[in-house]
Amino acid sequence: MNLEGKIAIVTGASSGIGTAFSQKLIKKGTTVYGLARRMNKLNEIREKLGDSFIPVQMDITDSEGVEKWISKTFSDEHVPQILINNAGLGLFGNVEELSLDDWHTMIDTNVNGVFYITRKVVPLMKATPGHCHIINIASVAGLLGNPQISGYNATKFALRGFSEALFKELRFDGIKVSTMFPGSIATHFFDNTGTETHPNMMQPSDVADTLIHLLETPDNMLINEVTMRPLNPKNPDSN
Ligand SMILES: NC(=O)c1ccc[n+]([C@@H]2O[C@H](COP(=O)([O-])OP(=O)(O)OC[C@H]3O[C@@H](n4cnc5c(N)ncnc54)[C@H](OP(=O)(O)O)[C@@H]3O)[C@@H](O)[C@H]2O)c1
Repeated sequence: MNLEGKIAIVTGASSGIGTAFSQKLIKKGTTVYGLARRMNKLNEIREKLGDSFIPVQMDITDSEGVEKWISKTFSDEHVPQILINNAGLGLFGNVEELSLDDWHTMIDTNVNGVFYITRKVVPLMKATPGHCHIINIASVAGLLGNPQISGYNATKFALRGFSEALFKELRFDGIKVSTMFPGSIATHFFDNTGTETHPNMMQPSDVADTLIHLLETPDNMLINEVTMRPLNPKNPDSN
């Protein structure tokens, strides 16, 4: 896809890789609707990236809000050709310590939120003659279970299944579906996890370069899954 003049929706654009995705897309000439709950952060990003970044205050767990925004913003004449389902969070701990609230917040955001937005964007994409692309941001936690992240694992495994089914369902409508499975990236994701970010984590800008590569592949070529990790994931300051 040639990204010049295209329209993208990026969820979780107020921080981390969502901001990096928005920045790289805008550099390529794409208009980005950046969704997140913190409007002050989105406004700061608009100041940096310019008017091609359109801030949208949205909690993606609010299915009605998502639905209303999509119907008032888009039409057959104004179609988002790109949807990046990126907003998400991880709340960690032994299973008996994981609260119901934490469990539901992860399921509502990482799984339900993706469904709410995708189900309303797909009909617009199906009706448009050109190619479209949905990219879902999972995690290596969508491929491998590990102690203390069972809830997060459950959501990212679910996202993997959703993505694989969609890729097969939508390919003949000219809609690509790709899933990214990153390892650790230096973002605010780790703020509430007790893990410090460090220089051996991947950088958001490098992850965003891969996203751009997926989007720019020829129309009849689909990279449906990408796993990426730091080569050496160890904190250089630890023994
Ligand atoms: N960092 C890593 O090591 C890593 C590795 C693999 C996968 N991932 C995945 O990458 C994605 C982005 O994470 P990140 O690392 O960039 O973390 P981050 O810096 O914490 O960013 C998370 C983004 O999600 C948004 N968000 C959270 N809940 C939301 C909601 N209910 N509605 C709308 N937006 C919401 C946040 O915005 P507001 O708070 O303003 O709403 C923020 O913009 C997540 O899906 C995460 O699971 C991260």
